[in-house]
Amino acid sequence: MKNSQITFIGGGNMASCLIGGLLADGFPRQKIAVADPDAATRASLRERFGCQVSASSAAFIAAADVVILAVKPQVMRTVVSELPADTPLLLSVAAGVRSGQLQHWLGRQAAIIRAMPNTPALVSSGATALFANEQVSAGQRELAEFILRAVGLTLWLEDETAMDAVTAVSGSGPAYFFYFMEAIEAAGRELGLSAEVAHLLTLQTTLGAARMALESEASVAELRHQVTSPGGTTERALQMLESDAVAEKISAAVRAARARSQELSMMLDEGTS
Ligand SMILES: NC(=O)c1ccc[n+]([C@@H]2O[C@H](COP(=O)([O-])OP(=O)(O)OC[C@H]3O[C@@H](n4cnc5c(N)ncnc54)[C@H](OP(=O)(O)O)[C@@H]3O)[C@@H](O)[C@H]2O)c1
Repeated sequence: MKNSQITFIGGGNMASCLIGGLLADGFPRQKIAVADPDAATRASLRERFGCQVSASSAAFIAAADVVILAVKPQVMRTVVSELPADTPLLLSVAAGVRSGQLQHWLGRQAAIIRAMPNTPALVSSGATALFANEQVSAGQRELAEFILRAVGLTLWLEDETAMDAVTAVSGSGPAYFFYFMEAIEAAGRELGLSAEVAHLLTLQTTLGAARMALESEASVAELRHQVTSPGGTTERALQMLESDAVAEKISAAVRAARARSQELSMMLDEGTS
C-alpha cells in the first residue's frame, strides 16, 4: 500500500485530515500530491505535510493509483467532468454525491468508491462507510480501506442507498451527541456544579460510555439495564425520558436527516444544490 501514489483534488479540512492520518501511519509524504486552486491552502499543505502541491490536478493524475475527490459537493460536477480519460480509481468523500452521478459527469464507466467519513476523523476517531461500484478491483478496495482506516473505523456497504442512512446516523451523528452533551452540561450547572466540572464530567462520561459499549460483548440495551438499579437514580431519570418519548423523537430526527440527504442528492442531479 505504501507504494501507492495518492492524488487529492481539494486540499481542505477532509484532505488535511486524511493526509495527517496517512503520514502518522508512516505513509511516505512524497507519494501524496494535492491539487487546490487556493495559493494559501497550497502553502499551508506544503508546510504542514511536505507533500507535492499544484493549482491543477493535470500533472498528478497519470501517476496516481487513486484520485481522492475532496471538494464540496457543489463543485464536484465541474471537477469530475474535467478529469482526463486515464483517471484511475476515483474515491469520493463528498456527502450526498452518488457513484452514478460521478460516472455520469465523468461520461464513462470507471472504478468509483464512495466514502462517508465523519468529523471525528479530525482526531483519528472517525467512522467511515464505503461503497464500491462493480468496476472496483479487490486491490482498489484494499487501497481505499487503507486510506480511510488512517482516520478511524471503516466498514463496507453492499447497497449504496444505505449511504443516506449512514449520513443520518454517523455523518450527522456527532452533532446529536454534542447536543446531548450541551444539555447534560447545562443541567449540571443548574444543579450547582461549576462550568468546568459539569463540562469535564459530561465529556468523560460520554467517552467512557462509548468505550464500554465498544469493548463489551453486551448490547447497549443490556449495558443500560446493568447500570439501572431498580428504584435508583438512573431509573428515575430514564423513566422521565421514556414518558417524554425521547427515543421516538430521536428516531424521527434521524429519519429527517436521511430524508434531507436524499433531497440533497436529488438537488445535485438537478444542479440546484
Ligand atoms: N469536513 C468533514 O468533516 C467532512 C465529513 C464528511 C464528508 N466531507 C466531505 O468532504 C468534502 C470536502 O469537505 P471539506 O470540509 O474538506 O471542505 P473544504 O475544507 O472547503 O475543502 C475543499 C477544498 O477544495 C478546494 N476546491 C474548490 N474547487 C476546487 C477545484 N476545482 N479543484 C481543486 N480544489 C478545489 C477548496 O478551495 P476554496 O476554499 O478556495 O474553494 C477547498 O480548499 C466535501 O464534499 C464534504 O461533503 C467532509
